[in-house]
Amino acid sequence: MPETFAVGTVVGSISKTSINRRLALALEKLGPEVGLELREIPIEPLPFYNRDYEEEGASYPAAATEFRERIAAADGILFVTTEYNRSVPGVLKNAIDWVSRPKTDAPMGGKPSYVVGTSRGSIGTALAQQHLRSPLFFLASPQLAQPEVFLRYTDGLINDEGEITNEATRDFLRSALQAFHAHLVLHVGHREA
Ligand SMILES: Cc1cc2nc3c(=O)[nH]c(=O)nc-3n(C[C@H](O)[C@H](O)[C@H](O)COP(=O)(O)O)c2cc1C
Repeated sequence: MPETFAVGTVVGSISKTSINRRLALALEKLGPEVGLELREIPIEPLPFYNRDYEEEGASYPAAATEFRERIAAADGILFVTTEYNRSVPGVLKNAIDWVSRPKTDAPMGGKPSYVVGTSRGSIGTALAQQHLRSPLFFLASPQLAQPEVFLRYTDGLINDEGEITNEATRDFLRSALQAFHAHLVLHVGHREA
């Protein structure tokens, strides 16, 4: 069995019926097969980031502190995002801003990451993913570049139990998680036996 890494999943949609949360659930189910324990770190409770929270005497809201602590504690972060208007949904950019400060000790600073996503459109969130890479580069996050997961969602592709109904898609997503595991071995290192 491969060693296990704890991965925080950040879903770029707060819709109750999000197909990206459905994809995140499917990946969570596949994870243990390749040594990844995936748990969602919700962004929905986060208020808008405002740098006034950083002023002397100010403090972070509890939801932000919890989000920051959970990102910091994870070995790596898997972003599962939708695409809004050919870019990153605002709720997700806001979440990234929350873990980007202070610059010298940011929870997302240097944290390994992987960006995937699904939409019903023909480019399967490709542009949102490309735009998301920009703040992640700025935060010195080592990003897994391949395989790119631009998943075109069709009804029934992932059922209510989080099972991927198409075998080829399931195999592809498992191999993507395997690649993320190898990426974490490279950037987090082997665990002590
Ligand atoms: C404001 C808005 C903008 C959207 N822009 C895009 C887009 O640029 N590309 C795309 O493929 N789908 C776009 N869509 C469709 C979404 O991909 C689709 O609603 C998807 O289900 C959203 O993901 P979610 O279910 O995880 O929230 C947009 C939807 C909304 C509501």
